[in-house]
Amino acid sequence: MGSSLYKGRIIYITGGSSGIGLAAARGFSALGAHVIIFARGEERLGKAVKEIERSRMSKTQRVSSMSLDVADHHAVQEQMTRAVTGFGAPGVLINSAGIAYPDYFENIPQEKFRETVSTNLCGTWNTCSCLVPYMKPGGGHIVNISSIAGFLGVFGYTAYSASKFAVMGFSESLRSELRPYRIKVSVLCPPDTDTPQLREEDRTGPAETRAIAGNATVMSAEHVADAMIRGMGRGQFVIIPGVEGRFIHLAQRLFPGLVRRIMDAQVRKARKAASHE
Ligand SMILES: NC(=O)c1ccc[n+]([C@@H]2O[C@H](COP(=O)([O-])OP(=O)(O)OC[C@H]3O[C@@H](n4cnc5c(N)ncnc54)[C@H](OP(=O)(O)O)[C@@H]3O)[C@@H](O)[C@H]2O)c1
Repeated sequence: MGSSLYKGRIIYITGGSSGIGLAAARGFSALGAHVIIFARGEERLGKAVKEIERSRMSKTQRVSSMSLDVADHHAVQEQMTRAVTGFGAPGVLINSAGIAYPDYFENIPQEKFRETVSTNLCGTWNTCSCLVPYMKPGGGHIVNISSIAGFLGVFGYTAYSASKFAVMGFSESLRSELRPYRIKVSVLCPPDTDTPQLREEDRTGPAETRAIAGNATVMSAEHVADAMIRGMGRGQFVIIPGVEGRFIHLAQRLFPGLVRRIMDAQVRKARKAASHE
């Protein structure tokens, strides 16, 4: 699907060393694109580059990586400018770098809240602010990764949801501004996806959050990346992989009160079950 769209194009992916970002990198590589990934950890970046190379259509496709903390505005300016010089300006930018520390609101220290917002929101802002000027001459596509928790406030996700709702608002404004430059903007809202981030959340999140998550279907990172690439090809603004997520999105817009009542009932049930343990 859409192979000609991405063949020979230059794709930048933050958070491309793991999970959804890595699956997207493999997906674009299989469609003939040149891919550069960004994350902090060098070791995972090195392993990811090898995986992405194995997905290539042809050995002429370039795959590269750079260590980068997206929350650090100056580092983003410096490294992304180096990337543009060495690898070429991006035709596609995927902002997948993200973190989540679900916990009860009172247990989330201010530093964790700041780190969540700095990575998920400011990180997305930082890469866009550096790369948009380089994308304007050729046009392109930016996909910012939000979440179902970016349009539905979920128990335990006060910091995460705040950052992901903000990514939705940022993306909507940016879409409108970049349209005249033939730069499309999309926002991807994955449901629970089987990645290292989700496994960590399952280990540390409050019992109520885990109970709510337990009712949802978990998708593979490959499935989410495929849905993203298909949604991009169709020029969709909000891309929600899976029927369940799309249903929640519709229900949240049409019947927000009902959705809140269902969520509250799930929390009450989880608490009751915990008190019987
Ligand atoms: N998994 C889910 O259930 C789910 C659901 C909805 C939305 N999402 C969103 O999807 C995106 C990808 O999540 P994932 O589940 O694929 O997570 P993941 O497997 O943990 O991957 C996260 C990636 O982001 C990088 N990263 C984290 N902080 C960074 C920073 N400050 N600077 C640069 N890179 C950073 C990580 O590498 P380093 O740690 O080495 O930097 C890693 O490459 C996130 O935005 C997440 O919020 C995930």
